[in-house]
Amino acid sequence: MDSNNTTSVENEEKFYTDAIHYWSSIPATIDGMLGGFGFISQTDIRDSKLLLKQLFNSKAPPGKDHALDCGAGIGRITKYLLTDFFHKVDLVEQNPNFLNQAKQYLGPKLQDKIGNYYSSGLQCFEPEESKYDVIWSQWVLGHLTDSDLVEFLKSCQNGLKPNGVIIIKENVSSSDVDKDEQDSSVTRPLDLYHRIFTKAGLDCYRQVKQRNFPKGLYTVYMFILKPQTALSEVTIENV
Ligand SMILES: C[S@@+](CC[C@H](N)C(=O)[O-])C[C@H]1O[C@@H](n2cnc3c(N)ncnc32)[C@H](O)[C@@H]1O
Repeated sequence: MDSNNTTSVENEEKFYTDAIHYWSSIPATIDGMLGGFGFISQTDIRDSKLLLKQLFNSKAPPGKDHALDCGAGIGRITKYLLTDFFHKVDLVEQNPNFLNQAKQYLGPKLQDKIGNYYSSGLQCFEPEESKYDVIWSQWVLGHLTDSDLVEFLKSCQNGLKPNGVIIIKENVSSSDVDKDEQDSSVTRPLDLYHRIFTKAGLDCYRQVKQRNFPKGLYTVYMFILKPQTALSEVTIENV
């Protein structure tokens, strides 16, 4: 299960340094975060909001105290999604320029709602124990090797409060792993994501397809993941 072809230490190092290099050349703007598709941001946020609303109406919802935005970029998701639902949001992002821009972008109005800004790659990051109700990772996990993704998801489990969940929103390929040499990332197929979740000790509680994105883009899925012991019901569906 190594979709990243990163079996040697050198390859793995290159996989990560190439991504750092790529992102250092990208403007700290919404368009930069979304690869020139800034106009899909509202559509993206709309379905994410619906997912969270449905989650909060479920039988054993997470709390609304603290969320973590992983691979946060300039804080687009924190600003338009997470601060609407949670009292505090922390951000983790490896590009220091984006994190600095996030401080401006989130502005004084949201200041009370922002907790920590962690400047770190997710492959080296461990959330504090039992701190978060929701850990949200979007359009970043293709930058982790499969084995680092498994370890990251395990450490996220330790970071969850009771009833806490991990939410992943990512592009999904139709069958094979697609490699993007330009930004040094991979796009995984659904079955690989599921194998990774299982290996990390997580159950997929809901799997929902993003709607209304322009034709020609990858299919995007949202996955709500719970530690295996906490699973009460499974639904796999479109919104
Ligand atoms: C496509 S942008 C998405 C940003 C944000 N999640 C959003 O949806 O607006 C990818 C982000 O992941 C960050 N990133 C890339 N590799 C990373 C890594 N290994 N750890 C943490 N962040 C990473 C990039 O710097 C960039 O901010």
